[in-house]
Amino acid sequence: MDWGMKNRISKIIRPETGRAVMLAVDHGYFLGPTRDLEVLKKTISPLITYADSLMLTRGALRSSVDSQTTTPIVLRVSGGSSVIGESLANEGLITSMEDAIRLNAVAVAISIFVGTQYEKQNLLNMAELVNQGERVGVPVLAVTAVGKELGKRDQRFLSLSCRIAAELGARIVKTYYCDGFEKVASTCPVPCVIAGGPKLETELDAFEMTYNAIKKGAVGVDMGRNIWQNPKPVAMIKAIRAIVHENMKPQEALKLYECEKNLKKSAAKKK
Ligand code: 5RP
Repeated sequence: MDWGMKNRISKIIRPETGRAVMLAVDHGYFLGPTRDLEVLKKTISPLITYADSLMLTRGALRSSVDSQTTTPIVLRVSGGSSVIGESLANEGLITSMEDAIRLNAVAVAISIFVGTQYEKQNLLNMAELVNQGERVGVPVLAVTAVGKELGKRDQRFLSLSCRIAAELGARIVKTYYCDGFEKVASTCPVPCVIAGGPKLETELDAFEMTYNAIKKGAVGVDMGRNIWQNPKPVAMIKAIRAIVHENMKPQEALKLYECEKNLKKSAAKKK
């Protein structure tokens, strides 16, 4: 692997721990103004310093992130469909490699919808993106998307999708946690991170999912809603960081979350 590719990957997967906390705020590219992500800047600003990298579209980046940020950018470059359209899987490339480099992205991200009528189109788009990325040292992160079919998130489907993504050249794969996740991770020859999926009922649920994913072979998370749809998103991302980078157990992470959550409250009371 060339220096540029290695260097970019090291901005995502931190060399100190071999782990990654990615913050995903790319949902608007097909969902529009998602709950708690209505005003991008408002959601991103308090969280960005706690993320190892930030995943978003070029429009969100240019409009809503300070260009002086030191947080590395993973650019979502697939899209072209919406939640009210015919199929979420009917995606193409929405950003050139040239623009990704202009924006100083450390990686580009693309969804693949394996098993859909658009599978071939998605996979060929991904392979072409890999060709372009490898030429200039930009890693491709493949997202094993399920669209509206959340029930598809099982071990057999995710193992299949992750393995295909890696075989076609993705340097990192983003997938979902599932029962039997160890098989998904162990049969994927490149590092995987997990998405959080729709907001879980409790904080502990999110901490347990993160802890188990790491224990079973994920290198980290690329999480969105379970962080920024939480009423205390900063406390949430700090606790997730502690699990990912310090192997904190879920119950300890919950204590950390509660403590962080009450920080401002007790500071206000003292005044
Ligand atoms: C959408 C994505 C999102 O970035 C991904 O789903 C992560 O966010 P969340 O944790 O909210 O699921 O790739 O296709």
